[in-house]
Amino acid sequence: MKKRYLLPIMAVMPLSLFAQREATVTLKTNEANQKISKHIYGHFAEHLGTCVYGGLWVGEDSSIPNTNGYRNDVLEALKEMKVPVLRWPGGCFADEYHWTDGIGPKENRPKMVNNNWGGTIEDNSFGTHEFLNLCELLECEPYISGNVGSGTVEELAKWVEYMTSDGDSPMANLRRQNGRDKAWKVKFLGVGNESWGCGGDMYPDYYADLYRRYAVYCRNYDDNRLYKIASGASDYDYNWTETLMRKAANQMNGLSLHYYTVKEWGPNKGSAINFNKEDYYWTLGKAIEIKDVVNKHIDIMDKYDPRGRVGLLVDEWGTWFNEEPGTINGHLYQQNSLRDAMVASLTLDIFNQCGSRVQMANIAQIANVLQSVVLTKDDKMILTPTYHVFNMYKVHQDATMVPLDITSDKMDVGGKGNRTLPMLSASASKNDKGVINITMSNVDADNDQTVTLNIPDVKIKSTKATIITAKDISSHNTFEKPEEVILKDFKGVKVEKNGSLKVKMPAKSIISIQVN
Ligand code: AHR
Repeated sequence: MKKRYLLPIMAVMPLSLFAQREATVTLKTNEANQKISKHIYGHFAEHLGTCVYGGLWVGEDSSIPNTNGYRNDVLEALKEMKVPVLRWPGGCFADEYHWTDGIGPKENRPKMVNNNWGGTIEDNSFGTHEFLNLCELLECEPYISGNVGSGTVEELAKWVEYMTSDGDSPMANLRRQNGRDKAWKVKFLGVGNESWGCGGDMYPDYYADLYRRYAVYCRNYDDNRLYKIASGASDYDYNWTETLMRKAANQMNGLSLHYYTVKEWGPNKGSAINFNKEDYYWTLGKAIEIKDVVNKHIDIMDKYDPRGRVGLLVDEWGTWFNEEPGTINGHLYQQNSLRDAMVASLTLDIFNQCGSRVQMANIAQIANVLQSVVLTKDDKMILTPTYHVFNMYKVHQDATMVPLDITSDKMDVGGKGNRTLPMLSASASKNDKGVINITMSNVDADNDQTVTLNIPDVKIKSTKATIITAKDISSHNTFEKPEEVILKDFKGVKVEKNGSLKVKMPAKSIISIQVN
């Protein structure tokens, strides 16, 4: 029997006494039969702070190098990382957004106050065309979040027509007048966002009825087929899911869910970079609780939709810390450390393995807001530790998931229900060329971990590995030092005589192994 260390969080200090941890991972290659949807590697761009303006879009006349207004450095980074789907324009912003303000000549577009996010003046220079053209550049699917809170059924119905109708229809002709002849393909349509809160403060019964009404008038034009998504619950609100499924499951393709790794709502969320080991472990414990939360929502969905037709879309997830000191209040600008990288790897491991019900996930948000993959300052851009995880994990997009048996030490990290954190997280997949990719995180802040990796029935010819780690759990990239946390080649993988792999994982590291 393997010895397990069960350490209470108060005993974090003595952890360094353990010189070496051990874990075993066994791939069940013969049971690999389910695809990991690339859409669980999705992103989210809201009109919030400098996510869109400054982060993605600088405008054609900017001195910052750009392609049709999109900054080149960010475009290049996002293409490399592979964005499969991008949600826009919110978030809370979506339920105050009137799409007709964001079309036509820029000089005629009205301004508005971004009431949700710091009262910033929004000039609508980034609108429907700018967003959908960006998706074409990134070769990703657009996910439009429609205004239910302060909009009308007619307004959303016409937006759908404007984007997707190729006929001689009034909205298609308006689009043509604005310079776009061919309709875009828009599959994912969100009908409201957080309708229980910033999206209209509705009760679930009321929203379910409203959802049904909106869904009727959001039409399929020509060969465009909408995938309609109802605004879903926040983390532990199971009653919302229950009501929506009971009243409107037949009218929806997907139901959303938001889960943030946040200590508490309010001013004490903690700093993104000044934290101790206790905070680190607490955060990881909270992050992996998403698995239980997702499963509980799935149980409810199974009751009303036993065939699993309706998707669960975790269309907002990620860390939420205090805004960086000196930044604009309400812009949610936060730094990103190795701890965020761990949150990303652990969460993606969960999504990789949570089955076909979870059809999409979108980390919040793509640039300069919450757990971003890029941070920008004027003409400079840095890649965050979270970026490197998404870049490392892109091998799993649309590959076949390989189930795993994992034996590792665990730690009691406190929190709701006294959370337990396994010291090793992993996921694996096989691509269409037969290449197996395994990603593993040694979450231990102090101790290396030797992992025995068994891959039965596979004759290993060669392996190639990369690693993300850094000096401290709080290490992060800055505009002055952009390479404190990056992806590097890793040489700690050995093929044993018995055909298994021995992997010496440094403390607080994330690695990816390609097995050929
Ligand atoms: O991602 C930031 C905000 O968090 C979104 O606008 C909202 O949907 C959620 O509360």
